[in-house]
Amino acid sequence: MSKPLTITAALPYANGPLHIGHLAGAYLPADIFARYQRLHGRDVAFICGSDEHGAAITLRARKEGISPKEIIDTYHEINRKAFSDFGISFDIYHRTSDDLHKETAQAFFSTLLEKGALEVRESEQFFDEQFQQFLADRYITGTCPKCKQPGAYGDQCEKCGSSLNPDDLIQPQSTLSGGTPVKRKTKHWYLPMQEHQAWLQQWLSTGKFDGMQAPVTAHNPEEWKSNVMGQCMSWLQDGLRPRAMTRDLDWGVPVPLPDAEGKVLYVWLDAPIGYISATKAWAKEHGRSWQRHWTDPDARLIHFIGKDNIVFHCLIFPILLKSHGGFVLPENVPANEFLNLEGQKISTSRNHAVWLHEYMQDLPGKRDELRYVLCSIAPETGDSEFTWKDFQTRVNSELVAVLGNLVNRVMVLHHSYFQGRCSRAAGCEKPELHKAVARMYDEVQQHVEAYRFRNALQSVMELAREGNRHLTVCEPWKTIKINPEQAQADLEDMLWMLAHLATGLQPFLPDTAQRMLHMLNLPEKLNWQDEIGWEREHQLNATEMLFEKIEDTAMDAQRDKLTPQAPEVQPNSTLSPALGSISFQDFSRCDIRIATVLAAEPVEGANRLLKLTVDTGLDTRTVVSGIAEHYAPAEVVGRQVCLLVNLEPRTLRGVESQGMILMAEDASGRLHFVSPPEAVNNGATVK
Ligand code: 2FM
Ligand code: ZN
Repeated sequence: MSKPLTITAALPYANGPLHIGHLAGAYLPADIFARYQRLHGRDVAFICGSDEHGAAITLRARKEGISPKEIIDTYHEINRKAFSDFGISFDIYHRTSDDLHKETAQAFFSTLLEKGALEVRESEQFFDEQFQQFLADRYITGTCPKCKQPGAYGDQCEKCGSSLNPDDLIQPQSTLSGGTPVKRKTKHWYLPMQEHQAWLQQWLSTGKFDGMQAPVTAHNPEEWKSNVMGQCMSWLQDGLRPRAMTRDLDWGVPVPLPDAEGKVLYVWLDAPIGYISATKAWAKEHGRSWQRHWTDPDARLIHFIGKDNIVFHCLIFPILLKSHGGFVLPENVPANEFLNLEGQKISTSRNHAVWLHEYMQDLPGKRDELRYVLCSIAPETGDSEFTWKDFQTRVNSELVAVLGNLVNRVMVLHHSYFQGRCSRAAGCEKPELHKAVARMYDEVQQHVEAYRFRNALQSVMELAREGNRHLTVCEPWKTIKINPEQAQADLEDMLWMLAHLATGLQPFLPDTAQRMLHMLNLPEKLNWQDEIGWEREHQLNATEMLFEKIEDTAMDAQRDKLTPQAPEVQPNSTLSPALGSISFQDFSRCDIRIATVLAAEPVEGANRLLKLTVDTGLDTRTVVSGIAEHYAPAEVVGRQVCLLVNLEPRTLRGVESQGMILMAEDASGRLHFVSPPEAVNNGATVK
């Protein structure tokens, strides 16, 4: 049997419905990966479930005036259904409110205590006197000390992704009463994260660490995405600090100790253990072994998440797993960035979102269309953008005009000339089609295994394009009149190719692939690179239209649903006049390239400067940039920027800067990156 492969997708809070950003960020890539691995016959456990504890839930319940239990029951069901409607093929969709999870999380905590992995401490914490409640996490907000954005939470700033403690917040405010909190003594169990700094640094950068013990095995850090590695390095550079693993709340997994009345486990201790308890529930249900997926040295563990969860999966959960002992550590955490919608951030509170359950009602039967578009634009290397115009264009000019058209033409022609009865066993006599099919398998394999799903899907679509080109060259509608055997052989070569195309499409567009296989009268699932088998006289099924054109009216209706947003950009009344003209030759002396920021750190004694390590495609170099007041280091890492690479080196605060990053300055003086809308190879010239 192949190695056990545990694929987890972040457990979404059951405090609201899911939108397209969730799908594009974690669940669709995870599903494509899981389906692809299953087609190889690998022993996959694809794990997810609802995250049902923490302030996200209790605050929503308070807002709606109902109990947390009602909230989680409602949204667990809505989200479970949305995932299933979009074909997200979890092996289990569990819940952290389940008793099995409570037992698992409490046992995990007790082992951490026994092993001396936690420190108990009494400290002063923020308290809301009006509501008689301690304030942690989302119960307290304030201005982020790093990016200066108001509204940062007590545990994390959603703007810049920094991990925070309530004491870090500038002007803290209670979410409950809106008032200024007081300090009150309380006792909590802390994870001394600073003690784990050295091995984490070593593990992340080299894949292993001193004293590494089975079942942990080395990973290859070169396979980790630069946005993920960059964020981790930036946290390590800032220095890890102790973090409380318990909370004073009445909703959550109770701390399993006699002297811990009114205390529950911190949701970010509880939730990732949810992956383990969900695997246990799956194993129990299917007579499988959960240990094989978590404690076997062969077990491979891969976490699919959004970028706001990186610290929890790359630093905190690995510390917890290692401190507990007996568990493997993740082989990779291929986090995606964020998806924006029609030029703005997706916002639940402003209802600026495309909700999955509403999409299904408004555009029924079009789940593969959304999977296709979201995979094509997934924020794999930087934030990306969904617009309904682009959705319509991709569906009409790619799915309808390329894929649907190819399948339809081949099927309709074969049915009309030969009644869909094949003259020979499956096969193909054309070396160029064999080559195109082999290339598709090869490229998809390379891309999927490197978590490049956008490229992988393009490689499958390239085979469809190749099919259309080939059909145009063969012209069976002409040869049928002069050489019908040739026309039949050409069309049956194409049928063989369609079967491979369907095989390659399975992870991405499972419905479409299945419908193609049905038309070809093949089994509903083919394994990766399976031989395509049918005998002489094989009868094709009737032709179905795979996709239909999307009309403007449907898109207008979707755009109208988005709540009108106040323009975010103020008109710039103080534009400076254009400079005097220069010759093209003058301009062409500026060598501007696309580069990716690999690492970022503050420059000592200079509030405005960040020291950046960038990959210019030509080399890796250091650039000092005056952006520290606008961007926190973690926000910058992984971004693609425009870099003037032939600017004379300059030394700023003792650091030599070898180039200049181009930034746009808005009316308020805030700097914004000028970045390509889609990933471009480093070193590409900007002209
Ligand atoms: O950000 C979120 O939605 C969290 N509920 C993710 C938890 S992931 C895991 F640790 F369970
Ligand atoms: Zn911030």
